[in-house]
Amino acid sequence: MHAHTEDLFAQKISSADFRRIRSLIYQHTAIVVPEEKKDFIRSRILKRMRHINVASLSQYCDLVETGEEPLSDFTSQVTTNHTHFFREKHHFDTLVEFLRKTGCERKVIWSSACSSGEEPYSIALTIRENFPSACNGAVKIIASDLDEKILEQAQSGVYAEKRIEVLTPAQKSLGFMRGRNEMSGTVKAKEWMKSMIEFQKINLMEPLSFNGSIDVIFCRNVVIYFDHESKIKMFRNLADIQKRGDLLLIGHSESLNGISDAYRCLGSTVYERI
Ligand SMILES: C[S@@+](CC[C@H](N)C(=O)[O-])C[C@H]1O[C@@H](n2cnc3c(N)ncnc32)[C@H](O)[C@@H]1O
Repeated sequence: MHAHTEDLFAQKISSADFRRIRSLIYQHTAIVVPEEKKDFIRSRILKRMRHINVASLSQYCDLVETGEEPLSDFTSQVTTNHTHFFREKHHFDTLVEFLRKTGCERKVIWSSACSSGEEPYSIALTIRENFPSACNGAVKIIASDLDEKILEQAQSGVYAEKRIEVLTPAQKSLGFMRGRNEMSGTVKAKEWMKSMIEFQKINLMEPLSFNGSIDVIFCRNVVIYFDHESKIKMFRNLADIQKRGDLLLIGHSESLNGISDAYRCLGSTVYERI
């Protein structure tokens, strides 16, 4: 598209329209679009509008409101999916310590905003390296996200080879197969890892229903763009499905200070349900 046409397109977004799209984003994801992300969101939405041939933002908002624009297509425009293997390594050490202390039998670990899957596969590798016999059903991993498209990617377990550079040689061969022919340059998660993980679409702002409590929740780098009220609501949802002594791990720039008194802080971004 020429720059000129691009400009015309961009002009179709008035401040009122932008407020409307912002409030739809908030309503469906709890994400508050900060001023500095306005242009990013604008270009993502415009791209989607071009793709489905919608000429104005107000028309696009109508489609979201009536459900003609599938919610999954809408929300995947606005989520930030940045992640990597063994992000915040100390959380995986904490997980090992927790399982050593409490045992692996019938444990459920939930990667609650798993994005493209690096987090749940890092959990599976951690279990396999430290408690190999727990991979046969003792420990179950649930991996979920609001964004169905990124969840599909996670479930496929396919990554560009360079994404797994951070793994040790032992972890690489334990967890991944090299792609051949048209898949060369990629790796794929091995079946034992996939079979440990159950993928689900879950919106953390909605009431949660699990059979039994969740022993360890990874809820990392998801509430960064939530407002205070949504953070309170979301961590209340999480507290409701954990029992005393269970573990909650949050992102490096997040804190439960003034948000939840259902947890006590055990160390940087590591919390225990009380
Ligand atoms: C930056 S990624 C974090 C990935 C991983 N947890 C990590 O720390 O590397 C944030 C993820 O949160 C998801 N997300 C945003 N709002 C959500 C909500 N209301 N419910 C569930 N997931 C949500 C996004 O789709 C995105 O994949």
